[in-house]
Amino acid sequence: MLLSLSPASSLLPAALRRPGAYPPAVSRHSLAIKSALNKDSPTPKADNGSPPSAASKPSSWVSPDWLTSLTRSVTLSGADDSGIPIASAKLEDVSDLLGGALFLPLFKWMNEYGPVYRLAAGPRNFVVVSDPAVAKHVLRNYGKYAKGLVSEVSEFLFGSGFAIAEGQLWTVRRRAVVPSLHKRYLSVMVDRVFSKCAERLVEKVQTAAISGTPVNMEETFSQLTLDVIGLSVFNCSFDSLTADSPINFLCKIIPRQVKAEKAVGVIRKTVEELIAKCKEIVETEGERIDKEEYVNESDPSILRFLLASREEVSSVQLRDDLLSMLVAGHETTGSVLTWTLYLLSKDESSLKKAQEEVDRVLQGRLPSNEDVLIRRATVPDVLPGDYKVDAGQDIMISVYNIHHSSKVWERAEEFVPERFDREGPLPNETNTDFRFIPFSGGPRKCVGDQFAMLEAIVALAVFLQRMNFELVPDQNIGMTTGATIHTTNVPDAIWAGGSNSPLSASQILAVIRSSSSSSSGGDPENLQRILRMLASYGVFEEHLVGSGERKYSLTDVGKTLVTDANGLSYADYVLQHHQDELLKAWPLVHEAVLDPSVEPFARANGEPAYSYYGKKPEMNVLMLRAMSGLSVPFMRAVLDSGYDGFAGVKRLVDVGGSAGDCLRMIMGKHPNVTEGINFDLPEVVAKAPSIPGVTHVGGDMFEFIPTGDAIFMKWILTTWTDDEVKSIMENCCKALPAGGKLIACEPVLPKVSDDSHRTRALLEGDIFVMTIYRTKGKHRTEEEFRKLGQLAGFPHFRALYIDYFYTVLEFQK
Ligand code: HEM
Repeated sequence: MLLSLSPASSLLPAALRRPGAYPPAVSRHSLAIKSALNKDSPTPKADNGSPPSAASKPSSWVSPDWLTSLTRSVTLSGADDSGIPIASAKLEDVSDLLGGALFLPLFKWMNEYGPVYRLAAGPRNFVVVSDPAVAKHVLRNYGKYAKGLVSEVSEFLFGSGFAIAEGQLWTVRRRAVVPSLHKRYLSVMVDRVFSKCAERLVEKVQTAAISGTPVNMEETFSQLTLDVIGLSVFNCSFDSLTADSPINFLCKIIPRQVKAEKAVGVIRKTVEELIAKCKEIVETEGERIDKEEYVNESDPSILRFLLASREEVSSVQLRDDLLSMLVAGHETTGSVLTWTLYLLSKDESSLKKAQEEVDRVLQGRLPSNEDVLIRRATVPDVLPGDYKVDAGQDIMISVYNIHHSSKVWERAEEFVPERFDREGPLPNETNTDFRFIPFSGGPRKCVGDQFAMLEAIVALAVFLQRMNFELVPDQNIGMTTGATIHTTNVPDAIWAGGSNSPLSASQILAVIRSSSSSSSGGDPENLQRILRMLASYGVFEEHLVGSGERKYSLTDVGKTLVTDANGLSYADYVLQHHQDELLKAWPLVHEAVLDPSVEPFARANGEPAYSYYGKKPEMNVLMLRAMSGLSVPFMRAVLDSGYDGFAGVKRLVDVGGSAGDCLRMIMGKHPNVTEGINFDLPEVVAKAPSIPGVTHVGGDMFEFIPTGDAIFMKWILTTWTDDEVKSIMENCCKALPAGGKLIACEPVLPKVSDDSHRTRALLEGDIFVMTIYRTKGKHRTEEEFRKLGQLAGFPHFRALYIDYFYTVLEFQK
């Protein structure tokens, strides 16, 4: 689920702010929640506060491959003598299973066939369980019911890890690992890890709340929980919240995708290196566990505990056990946080209560101190209710069904936090008699349950303490199964995490349907008509296959529309250009020729674009997303390209730096830049968050620019006339020492007009500036920039082409 951040106070309805409700030391920003699963589809029906019917993203780390093998086995068959009714699986239900919206058909069949039914027959079939008593029987009798299919298909990821191991190996390893998660360890984690990471998350989204940039909260929570689990298990910061960590791809291991095995290889290697390093330290220090609840003060990790406990264990086994924790403890908690926020956003009174509780309990300080469960019967058995199962029978306990069944819970489909007594104990399988089993139950119950509860409570408390949020209307929030990426649109569906395999229009629709949990529709013929047209524009490549079927993959242009880990792509830029108000300006483009004193946008809409955007939060958000979609990949490309322009710079001034994000990125990459000056209009810097090493300075660049060793700016010169550009550059020149550099990143037109995509996009951008922002603002050629630089006092000039959109222009004194 994407959360889209709305601009902070000034552009938000007052109702979203919480004046005085929290201690003055803590200020809450506002944000809006948005799912990008399907931008064009209608709002989900779940306005009663309960999640949309298919909208429970299972936290399973089980490979979706098992769904495929399940689907293969789904066929209709005759009756048997087990007393278990057989559900008839229809083709459309099966395609839901493939796509991942598993809970829809399982829930539907529960209502049709009762709490225990058989899903088809054939070489393999499942008995689906939605009854707490039966679940209790299966989960408690681990000797009679093994993990079965789940172990088989997850082995590529978990290896021999204890999360899927069976028998003696599981007993020994579980016994070795569980003591590491003791009470004292958890309380150290609350202070050292859970609170700190939650604070970092809030810091990250605050920047976006101020600038109005939407944030993919599902990704953000996934990054949080990855950071938490990395620090807790290995004492290793993956820094996925704050930086582009190389391990970030862990956020999206997609077993379904071709590259999964390669990714698993990288993760295994990373874990092996962490173990080797820690082992060396433990050996050198001769460390040994000397008391119960042992914690190494400098390195309180689970890895350190396990090594210091001196259990006999092979390094591969240890690696796989730790990998089990890493994977099992990552997406699960992230998913819980995402859905909790979603539910709270739909239920104002519960949100208010939760925020009041957080304010009351914390008083401004930091907090201190769905799944299906698969089993296989190993012996013949009779389940409560007199259902017979044979040895080898696969069983699927639907946690979702038990939690949503009206036979098990009153008002089962509603979000009623009060159903659990606040003063009473936390609900678990024992005190609810297996009616509430998010962590399973019996001997193979989750080992991280206390860890996850504390982590989620701390993260939620810190988040609610500092943020307001609301759900952006008109969007569809859906679910997929497994550790997944959420495909949302045509380019994402084809890209599928990097595969870019050609797909037909029907296949693309099937992927989109499954990720948006919409079971109906989409017209493949009309989609294909659009795809053909866009293929002629070079967005897609068309492949004619044997039967005359057309399939489409992405070209380099098409790839710019694929959503990245931060939910960004060039797609928002395209969407932004096609908003009604902007389109209204295009028929007036000739006016820019006849009378350039007023922009066509202002003629069409009665006022200039920026002040108009300011009054329309949704336009402003899209504009900011569009800018981020261009700027973030550009900044990454520049910083990763080995560009040497920041070498030797200590004090760097970012002119028009907004919230300071570029400085943050540059300073993160170039530690020699120790002082950042974020220079923008006073009202803009007033809302900028504090960034270590960065001073926010408000002012007018036509009057003065703060001094520095170098000056950076991005998309500034383009919107001003030649005279204005000269005047800005003169002020830069004054602020720089001899030999100092102005580094300006702007779109640059080629000298000759040709029909390449790049030239067309740049020329279209030029007319866009003329029509929407400034009639005499413009895209310029290298030569025009060089001349303007010379006039302003910069004799030296070079242009570096690193990215599709912006060119790096260096003007040196
Ligand atoms: C809200 C978050 C979490 C949920 C909902 C969750 C849920 C579950 C469930 C349902 C199982 C049992 C699967 C089965 O019976 O087949 C399980 C097992 C497991 N979980 Fe969690 N989990 C969460 C967080 C964590 C965390 C944070 C860790 C690690 C610190 C963790 C580590 C494990 C391990 C190692 C197992 C396998 C245990 C075994 O087979 O002996 N989980 N989890």
